[in-house]
Amino acid sequence: MSLVIRVLGARSEWWREHMQSLLPEFECRLWEDPGPLEAVEYAIVWRPPAGGLKQFPNLKAIVSIGAGIDHILADPELPRGVPIIRTTGSDLTERMREYVCLHVLRFHRRLPEHEEAQSLHEWRPGINPPASERKVGIMGLGNLGADAARTLAMIGFDVAGWSRGEKTIEGVATYAGEAGFDAFLARSEILVCLLPLTEATRGILDAALFAKLPKGAFLINCARGQHVVDADLLAALDSGQIAGATLDVFHQEPLPADNPFWSHPKVLVTPHVASLIDPVTGGKMIAANLRRFIAGQDVPDLVDLSKGY
Ligand code: NAP
Ligand code: GLV
Repeated sequence: MSLVIRVLGARSEWWREHMQSLLPEFECRLWEDPGPLEAVEYAIVWRPPAGGLKQFPNLKAIVSIGAGIDHILADPELPRGVPIIRTTGSDLTERMREYVCLHVLRFHRRLPEHEEAQSLHEWRPGINPPASERKVGIMGLGNLGADAARTLAMIGFDVAGWSRGEKTIEGVATYAGEAGFDAFLARSEILVCLLPLTEATRGILDAALFAKLPKGAFLINCARGQHVVDADLLAALDSGQIAGATLDVFHQEPLPADNPFWSHPKVLVTPHVASLIDPVTGGKMIAANLRRFIAGQDVPDLVDLSKGY
C-alpha cells in the first residue's frame, strides 16, 4: 500500500519524510518516483499536472494540500468518482486571520501613505476614522472568511460578509447570493476575497463589481488569481475607483517578472503566502483525515463535489 505526494519545489523531501513518520503503514513516495502505479492508493497533491492522477488505477482518494480544490478539478482528465479531501485546520485559519487583519489594518491606518511620506522626509499627520466607522466586506464566509470576519469585528471594524447560503455570525452583518450582492458591495470600503474558485466565482472581481464599491475602496485578494479580471483591476486602480490592492494570488504563479502588478504604485504583491500548509502542521490534519477515511468514519473535509468547493 503506497501513497504519493506532489508538492512544488524544494519542500518535497520534507513533506515525504513527515508523511512517512505520520503514516508508517504506507510507503510514502514522491510523485516523481511513484514506484508501481497500481500500488498507489492515495495521492496528496498541490497542482497535479493535467492527466497525472489518472495514471494510478487504484486511487481511493485524492488529498488537496490546500483548502481549495480548484487546482485538482482543473485537470480535464481527473479520474471521476474518486473522493477529494481538502485540508483545513486551526493553523491555516490562524495564518489567514493574521494576513487579513494585517492588510485591512494597513489600509485602514494608511500605511502606504506614511511610507511614501517617509521616503520624502515629509511629516504628514492626519486623523484616522475609528475602526467602528470603517466598513469591511468579506466575500466567502467559510472556514477562513468567517474567522477573519469575526476577528475584524472583535478589533472593532464594521464588518459584513457575503456567502452563497444564509449565515449568522455574531457581530457581522451577513448577505447571501445574488439578492444580497449589491447591498453588500455598496458598503464595502475594504473588500476581502476569500471565495473558492468555481465557475460561479471565476472573474467575479471585475469592472462591474468595482463600480458597485464606494469610490476609493481597497481590495485584498487572498483567494485565487482567477477571481480577478486583471485588466479591469488595473483600470479601476488608474481611475481611483480602487485606491489600493493587496494581491497574494495570480493567474500565473510565480508572477512573471514583466507583470504590471509588480511595479504598480497602488499594489502590494505577496507570493501566495497568506496561509500556507506545511508538513508539520498540515501533515497532521492530512494524516488524521486519511485515517478517518480509511476507517469509514465521517470526514468533515471530504468535498461535496456537487457544490464544487
Ligand atoms: P470554504 O470553507 O469552502 O468557504 C467558502 C465560502 O465561499 C463559503 O461561505 C461559501 O458559501 C462561499 N461561496 C462559495 N461559492 C459562492 C458563490 N458563488 N457566491 C457566494 N459565496 C460563495 O473555503 P475556505 O476554507 O474558507 O477557503 C476559501 C478559499 O481561500 C479557498 O478555496 C482557497 O482558494 C483560498 N485560500 C487561499 C490561501 C492563500 O494562501 N492565499 C490559503 C487558503 C485558502 P456557503 O457558506 O454558503 O457554502
Ligand atoms: C492555498 O492556496 C489553499 O488553497 O490552501
